[in-house]
Amino acid sequence: MIRELLGLAEGILQDLHNDHVEIASLINRIEKSDDRAEREALFEEMKTKLLGHAHAEQEVLYRRLEGSQSEASRGFALEGSNEHQIVENQLEKMSADRDRMSETWMAELKVLRELIEHHVKEEETTGFSCARDDFAKDELEAMAQQFQIRKAQLMTKVA
Ligand SMILES: [Fe+2]
Ligand SMILES: [Fe+2]
Repeated sequence: MIRELLGLAEGILQDLHNDHVEIASLINRIEKSDDRAEREALFEEMKTKLLGHAHAEQEVLYRRLEGSQSEASRGFALEGSNEHQIVENQLEKMSADRDRMSETWMAELKVLRELIEHHVKEEETTGFSCARDDFAKDELEAMAQQFQIRKAQLMTKVA
């Protein structure tokens, strides 16, 4: 109740939302930066956080939803997993394209931003509501812990 009044989500859902906000803000900073080295560093930071987030989220939340009794949950998880793959492909393309100051690269960043915005909107509406239907509050809390541990492991690996 208090969490709802404060606009907070339960357990892992709040953690996921916090990461979404952080990644959106890093993308803004990349767009605004006109310094090559700074843009490179911000891109690497964003990429590490985004991959850590998406892989941990996939393992802790999506895998469970894919095995759900609910058709809506399974459908959401399958579609969202596909979108994760598309986002990851776009990140790889941007990593390979070395000139972070070019118009081409900035257009690729815009595509990435739009893919993420679409994905996050669906995740925070459909995905969160499926998770609330499928899991009790204490399960969402336990998943928050698993998510943070897994993300920390993945981020040290990809960094
Ligand atoms: Fe997410
Ligand atoms: Fe996601």
